Amino acid sequence: MERKQLEPAAPRSGLSECAAAGDRLADIQQTDLPSLIAFFGAFWESYASDAVHGRVTPLDKSRILDALLGNPLPEGPMDAEQLLDQVRSMLAQETVKTRHPMFLGYVTPPALEIAALGEALAAVVNQNVAFATLSPLGTALEATVVRWLGEIVGYPQTCGGILTSGGSNANLYGLAAARYQLFGFRGAVDGNYADSRRLRIYCSEQTHHSVDKAAILLGLGTDGIRRIPVDRDHRVRVDLLRTAIEQDIETDVALPMVIVGNAGTRLCCAYDDLTSLREIADEYRLWLHVDAAYGGFLRIAEKPPCGAEAVYLADSVVLDPHKLLFVPFDCGSLLVRHPRHLSDCFGAEGEYNEMRPSGPLHDYANFGMQLGRSMKALKVWLALKRYGRATYSAEFTRLLRIAAHLTRRVDTDPRFERMGPAGGTAICFRWCESRCLREDELDRLNSIIRRTLVRRGAAFVDEVVLDGKTGFRLCMTNFNTDSGDVDRLLEGIASLASSLSRSGDWNREPT
Ligand SMILES: Cc1ncc(COP(=O)(O)O)c(C=O)c1O
Repeated sequence: MERKQLEPAAPRSGLSECAAAGDRLADIQQTDLPSLIAFFGAFWESYASDAVHGRVTPLDKSRILDALLGNPLPEGPMDAEQLLDQVRSMLAQETVKTRHPMFLGYVTPPALEIAALGEALAAVVNQNVAFATLSPLGTALEATVVRWLGEIVGYPQTCGGILTSGGSNANLYGLAAARYQLFGFRGAVDGNYADSRRLRIYCSEQTHHSVDKAAILLGLGTDGIRRIPVDRDHRVRVDLLRTAIEQDIETDVALPMVIVGNAGTRLCCAYDDLTSLREIADEYRLWLHVDAAYGGFLRIAEKPPCGAEAVYLADSVVLDPHKLLFVPFDCGSLLVRHPRHLSDCFGAEGEYNEMRPSGPLHDYANFGMQLGRSMKALKVWLALKRYGRATYSAEFTRLLRIAAHLTRRVDTDPRFERMGPAGGTAICFRWCESRCLREDELDRLNSIIRRTLVRRGAAFVDEVVLDGKTGFRLCMTNFNTDSGDVDRLLEGIASLASSLSRSGDWNREPT
């Protein structure tokens, strides 16, 4: 039989030619490709330079968003040139500029360009890293990156782990793995979760709320969580933790399961005393899970925050590359001391068993919930290869120095009051000079100042309520920010505070 020659279709004239409804997808996209590549390069270049200047946040009243929200499902194809024009304006005008030096909100660092390229390349090759046979490269990259992340937290080379969508899901996986290791699959096969309702998770009041979500999904409910008070440094009170466990054991109803330790709490980047938590976990035969999503990386700074070193004591650790490895969203990870801790729990006998790997590579579908999985590891691998441990270590050291500078400024200026501990890279404080104001008025003043800064596009900072007082939270996780930016922000707060205090008009926010 004569074989048909496989030849590329002749390119059509270009982007401005609008594809007609019913044209083949493959033909349309082949025509588009050169222009898409050119668009990508040009857009990236201009965004990278523009997004570090001007406003941090988009303008308040946006016609673009109004139009977008009303858009019906497109019936036919749109002219590609017009479409790219539209997306260019949307991205340039409507994105919060996380790479701007004045972006200091949440734990949302800017992304490194090489890691952004990794994300784009992973999409181009579109591998499904569910099975080693389906994506040998993606699987090997993920195994490598997991081992490197393990090294950052001080785990042995034999550790296991998986890349997840973020810290929240990694916390869920960690608690599920703990439940399996301690109690087997009790309740999960026959759907009887009676025993799960007896299980107890112990964590501090400062632990991230994703642990509550995980407890709900695992059938423990939030009643299954014992939130233990913290000391002045936001570290869990070890004495109260021990008492809570002993009380639960005595009742004979509750089944103590996991201690969740913190290595960098979301609000103030505080570190629990993980050595004591390990001792208690061993004494009562509990699992020690450590949420190091944010603060675990600071372990490799020149002078790590007190308590960061001990992360390696955990049975499972959450570490988010989309936080301090500066890779684009999304990318979290769960690390365990042995790969079996995940495959025991998540390795279901499914319809794809013939795909089981024979070599040294794991099937990541058996390490978590996801079956279709992107090649997240490429962006992490690229960032770590390009910069190496030493460059990250120097950057973490720099960020800790800026945080220390902010702490010093706040502590030595009587117009400001620090809220919560310092020592990591997140600092909470508030304006407190207008002393003739009542506490509730000071709260409102701080809240208005913050909202005004964000609305004017001058900065992006969080509002925090700590010990009943409202203030600001600045998260030093931006490699474009330096001490001068922090000084300018404090001046901005002071100047807004004095003009608002003078006007005394609490109902009208300044434009
Ligand atoms: C300590 C900590 N744990 C967990 C999370 C949740 O991580 P993600 O947003 O990646 O789900 C965060 C988010 O900021 C966090 O700071």
